[in-house]
Amino acid sequence: MQKPMKTNEKLMIRALKGEKTERPPIWLMRQAGRYLPEYRATRKEANGFLDLCYNPELAAEVTFQPIRRFGFDASILFSDILVIPHALGQKVWFEEGTGPKLEALQDAQDIENLTLENLHSHMAPVYETVERLKEGLPEETTLIGFAGAPWTVISYMIEGGSSKDYAKAKSWAFAQPETFQKLVDLVVEATSLYLIEQINRGAETVQIFDSWAGVWPEWALRKWCLEPCKRIIQSIKAVHPDVPVILFPRLVGPSYKTFALESGADALGLDTTLSLQWVREEIQKHVTVQGNLDPLALVAGGKALDQSIDDILSHLSDGPFVFNLGHGIVPQTPIEHVEQMLKRVRGF
Ligand code: CP3
Repeated sequence: MQKPMKTNEKLMIRALKGEKTERPPIWLMRQAGRYLPEYRATRKEANGFLDLCYNPELAAEVTFQPIRRFGFDASILFSDILVIPHALGQKVWFEEGTGPKLEALQDAQDIENLTLENLHSHMAPVYETVERLKEGLPEETTLIGFAGAPWTVISYMIEGGSSKDYAKAKSWAFAQPETFQKLVDLVVEATSLYLIEQINRGAETVQIFDSWAGVWPEWALRKWCLEPCKRIIQSIKAVHPDVPVILFPRLVGPSYKTFALESGADALGLDTTLSLQWVREEIQKHVTVQGNLDPLALVAGGKALDQSIDDILSHLSDGPFVFNLGHGIVPQTPIEHVEQMLKRVRGF
C-alpha cells in the first residue's frame, strides 16, 4: 500500500492515503480536555459538558487550544459520541465526577420511540463548530470529524452509562438479535448522515470510535462491530470517495486483520496491546496505522516514555503511519510530558 508519490495534500491526509511521509503526523485522542488549564477555564464558562458540545464558539475555542499550545498536525472536533443518542431523542446528561448518564432503553418500544427526524437540526451547532474550525485552523492542520461506532454508542444507550461488563447490552443482542439489529440500523443511518454532513461542512477526514469493540466472540464482533462500521464507511465513500476514514476497533486483538481487510477504512487506530512487529507485518501492508502510545506512559514521562516512543517509531515509521495514543489522554497527564513526546517524535 506504500506509495512514493508526494502530492500537495496535507501531511496527515497523505499519511492516511497510504503514503510514508517524511515525518509521522501527530495528534492525540482527547487532545482537548481536562489536562489543559485553558480547557478547565473554558469548561467553567459553559453550563455543563453537553452545553459546551453545543456551543459553537466555546467548542471551537477548546478545539483550538491544543493546536495553539502544541501545533499538532490534526485537530479533532470537540464534541462527544453521545450526541447521537441525544439527537435521536434519548435523555442524556453528564454528572460531575461520574461521567455520562442516559435514560436506558428497556425494550423494543423504546427503540420505536427514537427518531432520525431531528438529527440535522439537533446537530446544527456541531456543524457550525466544524465551519468555525475550518475557517480558523492553521492551513497545515487537518480537521478531523468523528462519531462513535454503533456498538460503542448503543452500549451506553442500553446500559444507561458506562459499564464494566456490558451485561445488559450484550444480553439484549444475544437474546433478541432482531430488535437489537433495528437499533443498530438506526444508529448506522444516523451516524452516516452525521459524518457526511461533518465532511460537507469542512471535516477532511473522520474517525469512528469503537472503543468497546473488544468484548465479543468472533462471529458477534463481525455482526455488531465490523458490519455496521463497514456500512457507515460505504455510505461515506459513496458521497466522498476521496475522504479517508479512520476506524478505532479497540482491543479486538488478531481481528484487527479482519478490520484491515474488510472494513473499508483507510486507517486503523491501534490500541496499546498489539504487537508492533505483527502490526508492521500483517496490518500496515493493507492500511495506514495510527497509535499507540500507552496514555499512562505519557503520564509517567522520563525513560518509560522515551522508550515507548522509540519502540513505536522504530517499528511503524517505515510505512504509512500517524503517531497517536492507544486510547484517550487522561486528565492527570503533565503538559511537560506532552512536550517531551512531541520533541522526540519530531526529532526522530
Ligand atoms: O478527542 C478530542 O479532543 C475530542 C473530543 C472527544 C470527547 N469525547 C470529549 C470529552 C471525543 C473524541 C470523545 C469520544 C468519546 N466519548 C468516547 C470514545 C473515545 C474513548 O475515549 O474511548 C467515549 C466512550 C465517550 C463517552 C464519554 N464522554 C465518557 C465515558 C466520558 C466520561 C469520562 C471522562 O473522561 O470524563 C465523556 C466525557 C468527555 N468527553 C470529556 C471530554 C473532554 C470530559 C468531560 C468534562 O470536561 O468534564
